Amino acid sequence: MRLRIDFGYPAFVIYGHLLVTLVALPLALLAYRRKWSRWILLPTLLVTIWSLASFALIRFGLDLNGRTTLPTNSFLASGAGRVLDMGAGSGRSAIMVLEARPQATLVALDLFGEEYDHHFGASQDSQMVGRARLLSNFRAANVESRATIVAGDMRQMPLEPASFDAIVSSYAIDHLNSKGIQQSLAEANRVLKPNGEFLLMVISKDAWMNFTWGPVFFHGGTRPATRWTQLLNEANFDVPEQGTKPATLYFLARKR
Ligand SMILES: C[S@@+](CC[C@H](N)C(=O)[O-])C[C@H]1O[C@@H](n2cnc3c(N)ncnc32)[C@H](O)[C@@H]1O
Repeated sequence: MRLRIDFGYPAFVIYGHLLVTLVALPLALLAYRRKWSRWILLPTLLVTIWSLASFALIRFGLDLNGRTTLPTNSFLASGAGRVLDMGAGSGRSAIMVLEARPQATLVALDLFGEEYDHHFGASQDSQMVGRARLLSNFRAANVESRATIVAGDMRQMPLEPASFDAIVSSYAIDHLNSKGIQQSLAEANRVLKPNGEFLLMVISKDAWMNFTWGPVFFHGGTRPATRWTQLLNEANFDVPEQGTKPATLYFLARKR
């Protein structure tokens, strides 16, 4: 049987806007057929269009449960090396790196704790379920021979100093509080080899987020790009490149 990748992001995040369409569209049709006031027709029509557009942007634009690509080709340009994924979750960022860099190996680190449950659904045994889902996704992507799973806290990682050529961390460090962010950036610096690269991706409340979720979007940890650069500098990283992807800020940092 062919395995299928399932990153496990919840249905309400991806299909939630369709619930709004389900209410707004029949109302708009009713208002049109019964020739109700345009003050009912117009708002319901606008809400229908907004909810359908938002659904399309999230489902097909962000495509959280589909594969994603590196935001910059400069990351691990040599194509080889030992990479760490801090907060690997169900493997989307790990698979992004392993597929783009077929000579690289990767250690996928996650706490598989409360935050994991929050994103991927609570279970009796998150450690077991988390590991099994990661492994299944690595197998489905045919990268399992180059990936290792480690359970651990990115604020205090059970990993040797100067043992990685590069690190990726996507939508994970920004879930921590300020102290946790500083601790994990210091940890990233500790486990990287001199000159090692760090690709940090964080959620950004940009035009995509404002259009689709607006004030409903309460994702903690959104900070301006200047603050992330400052935090990286304070943790002894230079930041030679930074940029954006939909809903995302990325920083390509280098250990000093
Ligand atoms: C939104 S998910 C991102 C997963 C993956 N990187 C991706 O791009 O899809 C955030 C992940 O960070 C993990 N996480 C949160 N706090 C952590 C910590 N202190 N140490 C290790 N992992 C943590 C959570 O368990 C969760 O799997």
